[in-house]
Amino acid sequence: MQQHATIAELVGKLDLDTKAGLLAGQDIWTLPAVPEIGLRSVVMSDGPVGVRGVRWTPEDPSVVLPSPTALAATWDPELARRAGRLLAQEARRKGVHVLLAPTVNLHRTPLGGRHFECYSEDPLLTGLIGAGYVRGVQEGGVATTVKHFVANDSETERYTVDVRAEERTLRELYLRPFEIIVREARPWGVMAAYNGVNGSTMTEHARLQNEVLRAEWGFDGVIVSDWTAARDTVRAALGGMDLAMPGPHTVYGPALAQAVREGAVPEQVVDTMVARVLLLAARVGALDGVPSGFTAPEELDGNEVAREVAARSAVLVRNDNALLPLRAEDLRTVAVIGAAADEARILGGGSATVFPGEVVSPLAGLRAALPGAEVRYCVGADPRTTLPPARDGFELTLVARDGAGAELASYAVPEAGLTWIGEVPEAVDAERVRAVEFTGTFTPEVGGSHEFGFRGLGEAVLTVNGRVLFDGVSLPEGDDPFTAAMDLSERRFRTDLVAGETVRVSLLLHPLTLAEGGAGPFVFVVTALGHAAPGPGPDAQIEQAVAVARESDVAVVVVSTTEEVESEGFDRTDLALPGRQDELVRRVAAANPRTVVVVNAGSPVEMPWLEQTGAVLLSWFPGQAAGTALAEVLLGAREPGGRLPTTWPARLADAPVVRVKPEQGVLHYEEGVFIGYRAWQRAGTAPAHWFGHGLGYTEWTYESARFDPASRTLEVELRNSGPRAGREVVQVYCAPGEPDPNRPARWLVGFAQVHAEPGESVLARVTVPGDATRVWDSGVGGWRQDTGPHLLEVGRSAGDLRLSVGTVNGL
Ligand code: BGC
Repeated sequence: MQQHATIAELVGKLDLDTKAGLLAGQDIWTLPAVPEIGLRSVVMSDGPVGVRGVRWTPEDPSVVLPSPTALAATWDPELARRAGRLLAQEARRKGVHVLLAPTVNLHRTPLGGRHFECYSEDPLLTGLIGAGYVRGVQEGGVATTVKHFVANDSETERYTVDVRAEERTLRELYLRPFEIIVREARPWGVMAAYNGVNGSTMTEHARLQNEVLRAEWGFDGVIVSDWTAARDTVRAALGGMDLAMPGPHTVYGPALAQAVREGAVPEQVVDTMVARVLLLAARVGALDGVPSGFTAPEELDGNEVAREVAARSAVLVRNDNALLPLRAEDLRTVAVIGAAADEARILGGGSATVFPGEVVSPLAGLRAALPGAEVRYCVGADPRTTLPPARDGFELTLVARDGAGAELASYAVPEAGLTWIGEVPEAVDAERVRAVEFTGTFTPEVGGSHEFGFRGLGEAVLTVNGRVLFDGVSLPEGDDPFTAAMDLSERRFRTDLVAGETVRVSLLLHPLTLAEGGAGPFVFVVTALGHAAPGPGPDAQIEQAVAVARESDVAVVVVSTTEEVESEGFDRTDLALPGRQDELVRRVAAANPRTVVVVNAGSPVEMPWLEQTGAVLLSWFPGQAAGTALAEVLLGAREPGGRLPTTWPARLADAPVVRVKPEQGVLHYEEGVFIGYRAWQRAGTAPAHWFGHGLGYTEWTYESARFDPASRTLEVELRNSGPRAGREVVQVYCAPGEPDPNRPARWLVGFAQVHAEPGESVLARVTVPGDATRVWDSGVGGWRQDTGPHLLEVGRSAGDLRLSVGTVNGL
């Protein structure tokens, strides 16, 4: 109350121009300060797997947690909360007040490009993991912006697509995670999506933003636009959007002040928006004189949290003859195969990118955990379509130059990759910089034909050993400015070099974005110099891997997607592993039945070789502790604790919802409430792996279940009937007593974790929420409690139900 009263007074002290200015970014990540009222500049940064900060550069590293799909695979809201606390700690370290996360759109289809960045196909699991995350971040005194409100579930035509969905579909599925999070965790921010819903773009959606989110659910935070999503000053202001990002050239600021002067927007509306922004500033401690009420919680070890989430999220989907866990003492020779074994894909691409400090690859993790074994590595098949950045054997300096070629700044870099988004490094003069150059030496270990490649838009000159390999201009393709700039195709060249003979190397780029006026407030420079030493061709690489696998006690093959097929900005076109990785797995598994496949992908992939392998473990995008966690799980120090947060199809052709391409700008969610397991069950087809599935290293017997209607608690007795201590995720689904074609066959209503020693019986308690049987009634435009008989079904996944309890008169 006190806080609100003070804020109202502060708003009263500001003139219209200052108020309108406060509602627009002053640059890509920050809001203007207003020292007269003690308001400091509020700083925002992406999430969700780390906090990048305002500098998009490897020189400012961050803790990198596993992908949101992994966090959801833990089915553990308390662990999500711990992850959130760690991120708040990271945010404070980097001077960030507002984390642009979590992403709680749904896995409507496995083709969604940002599937890895969302939690699940199920709204309850998404909502509970999201609520845990939001609590954790905000307990650390940092705001969250739950995104992207709403129906931002695919990427094709993402800035403009109009999603058409029935109100029931929105209420029961897509709005549901936002509702759970708003009601349970009270987030301080929500991000309005790029897309439209039923004819209105989301930044202007008065009904969903003002009526549903605010009035109905009681959201009292700020609504910030997705980056460049705001289109129209008056419609956005009246539609409920508070902050237009990024700035300064956007629909708020001077344009908003003018709209007020013209009478198109009441000044009171602007005052309310400013009050919300000041409340946000107060909550994050950026408003002097208004206490945030925050006291710093205990410090967390970032690497430990990353490792815990990675181990707990790994989902074991096949374990033939109990091949896993491996016994370290039985292993003399281990084959580790795959490009991603050495260069793990630790995180998904796009705005979620953060730069890790230290990464432990699967190869390094296994080597460290197996000091007594000979660990032999082969690439096997490399799915990447760009060369890895020049690193081994290179001594490189990055030089920033002005228009006349004079040096402005230079510093040594470990590898030749540069991404400046939002800001240039401190040492570089943003006004004067016009060119960047990687320059230095390279001493090849092997002689022969070396391949060099570069990415970067603008005039470029690539010189190796005195030979000019390229001198020309590289221009963007496509019309999505973000993807055009990020998804840079590579130009490649070959040159012969002699082993041990040091040569000079230089890539000089005059980036298009620096051509006029220097970096300015919107710096966007991405470039890389790639390199590959002469080596065996693709056929020989597979043969080599097969030969090494055949001679080894066990083969671990790490397969992965690439940034070209799974990332922000576009949807996937298929679920196949890129390159020749399927062939590699088949060949290796045929050579050694003790083959473990680790799938390093943020979202489902087809695994046509599944039955031919010994074991398959899904590691998602596992974050910076990838290799440490993987070794712990493979060698049995930890159980693979994950359960699928989304159904995995055997083939894309079987998946029930695959349309992501709008027609004339419109994407119909014609499947209604039937996505994920709800859709598979209606179709009567079996996926490769059901929602909720995951094996672990022990067995569980579900013995009995009892429902107490007074406390709404379901008690489930289960016994660890296997050989090892373990953790089980007990899942409770609700099903209508009589099948109803308009309703899913069953839906998740709760879950609980238990831990038990071998032979031990334990009790899992799940409180079934009061709204478990509610249905959106389109006739009356409101919720209706379905009071007919229902079943509570208990099991290990949506496709493996062990017990059921009947109830009468609803729940
Ligand atoms: C993404 C948001 C992100 C923003 C800022 C947008 O393109 O959709 O999720 O927070 O960029 O990087």
